[in-house]
Amino acid sequence: MPGIVWLNGDLSPLETATTSVADHAHLYGDGVFEGIRIYHHKIFKLDEHLERLYHGVAYLGFKMTLGSKELRATILEVCKLADVDTGYIRLNVTRGTGLGVDPKGIPSIPNVMVMVSTLNLFPSEAYEHGVSAVISPIRVIPADSLDPRVKCIGRYASSILAKHLANRQGAGDAIMLNHQGYVAEGTAMNLFIVKDRVLGTPLPASGILEGITRNTVIVLAREAGYKVVEEFLTPFDVISADECFFTGTAAEVMPMTSLEGRDINLGAVGQVTQDIMSRFKAHTNTGTPF
Ligand SMILES: Cc1ncc(COP(=O)(O)O)c(C=O)c1O
Repeated sequence: MPGIVWLNGDLSPLETATTSVADHAHLYGDGVFEGIRIYHHKIFKLDEHLERLYHGVAYLGFKMTLGSKELRATILEVCKLADVDTGYIRLNVTRGTGLGVDPKGIPSIPNVMVMVSTLNLFPSEAYEHGVSAVISPIRVIPADSLDPRVKCIGRYASSILAKHLANRQGAGDAIMLNHQGYVAEGTAMNLFIVKDRVLGTPLPASGILEGITRNTVIVLAREAGYKVVEEFLTPFDVISADECFFTGTAAEVMPMTSLEGRDINLGAVGQVTQDIMSRFKAHTNTGTPF
């Protein structure tokens, strides 16, 4: 996995980049991150990712020393140095360096990392045949504990537990429910269903990360004439859907063709899903050049 890393102003190869062991995200998960795709030598949805990152920092209650414009320029610069046509940017911001949970003990100097590398979440066959999923007994962390719209590093322990469970059951991913039993999302992906050519997806109030790919797909689908409804969905809605797919920066648009061992669309990728996949692919050309 080649790559380069910019960490607090210093550049190094990915293999040798290091951060302090007392970094507050390393100790407690206290920070936010973004995964961003590079397609066709352009950064996809850069401003949307930056906006979500800065909102997350404000929610966690610390201040960035680097302004959004400066960070944007840094990301473009690091991408230029990496000179990749297709790639994956990992942007991490942590509260800073120091021991102890109490934020008072942390000097107000966040650690900022921009990593440019590559990422293939699923094998290419998965995009042709879809992935299977199970319903996770591990639920999403409720909004009154940690707002799911904040892409907080520490939050991912529950996603990892759910993914570990999916792995043990031989499934491609796990669908996580909220505490009312409504469908929230995959372990690091949003979920869509298709019923009678109408797209349905959980409301933000279902406990989801409001995915940038999700929002892009909603816009692209509506432009293409599909009706898209944000709603509370139950596992029954998913199992009885005509088609299902996941969305995410890393996963892109990934068909889901079976749930808990029951086939969806006879186990094949549906027509609407294929249409959305090709519209999304065409849209990946719209990023910010570097
Ligand atoms: C929990 C969770 N939900 C949804 C998504 C999809 O969000 P996006 O499309 O912004 O990548 C992610 C992405 O990592 C995620 O971690």
